[in-house]
Amino acid sequence: MLKKYQNYYDIIHGDKDYAGETESLIKAIKKYSVFQPINILSLGCGTCGHEVILAGRGYNIKGIDYSKIMLGCASRKAKESNVKISFRLGDIRNFSFSGKFDAVISMYNVLCDISGLPDLEKTFKCVRKALKKNGIFIFDCLYGPAILKNKPEKRVKVINFNGRKFIQKRSSKLDIKHSMTDTLFEVFEILGGDKKKITEKKHKVRFWYFSELEYLLHKTGFKIVKTGDSIDFKKDISENNWDMFFVAQKI
Ligand SMILES: C[S@@+](CC[C@H](N)C(=O)[O-])C[C@H]1O[C@@H](n2cnc3c(N)ncnc32)[C@H](O)[C@@H]1O
Repeated sequence: MLKKYQNYYDIIHGDKDYAGETESLIKAIKKYSVFQPINILSLGCGTCGHEVILAGRGYNIKGIDYSKIMLGCASRKAKESNVKISFRLGDIRNFSFSGKFDAVISMYNVLCDISGLPDLEKTFKCVRKALKKNGIFIFDCLYGPAILKNKPEKRVKVINFNGRKFIQKRSSKLDIKHSMTDTLFEVFEILGGDKKKITEKKHKVRFWYFSELEYLLHKTGFKIVKTGDSIDFKKDISENNWDMFFVAQKI
């Protein structure tokens, strides 16, 4: 039997520049927050690639995710890095905390796992409740016009991790009508001359349009402070880049 895809998340994403992204995230937090944020809530924290670094830099981090496996990896990683992060197993579409946070983050397309506007609205409402007045919400997601311009293609990625070799194959179907991609990920480990499938996942994600998010953010009590095509916010959203980033402020 194949192991769940989440068990291999840190291997598959081992080439992601969490350190560089977190530096840019810290700069954005400092630049766009009206006060110095200390308490940060991370939605869909997963294995805490960014959060472990943030915790090491003195931020108090709470992470919420609905995957036990991802939170298990995150907890091991926090222990190894000697940092404290508190975790909540839960759904970002329906959560509440007793205290208020200075900032909420949601990194790496977590909001694309939410497939409909009503659920995204519920999420934004929960974020608003969890934030202090004027607190900021920094998140990213896939940008529809860029997906339609550069459609997902079949891709093979070779991964070398701690002396082991893996291959990830990805093939996607585009559902333009519903603004969704349906992707099959298959991961193989190369052992000697053999290629053995170790995991696979079918993953549907929703890509979003700026106007949808603008409407929902305003409706749920946020103002958009900054948008960008990456976490350094140097360039604005563009149809040439699949990612769009937002800084929104609770008003
Ligand atoms: C692509 S991963 C990103 C993980 C992490 N933020 C990172 O940068 O590596 C998406 C994460 O969001 C979580 N997630 C998706 N939808 C969720 C929901 N409705 N409630 C809680 N967690 C959710 C998944 O379990 C997964 O850990």
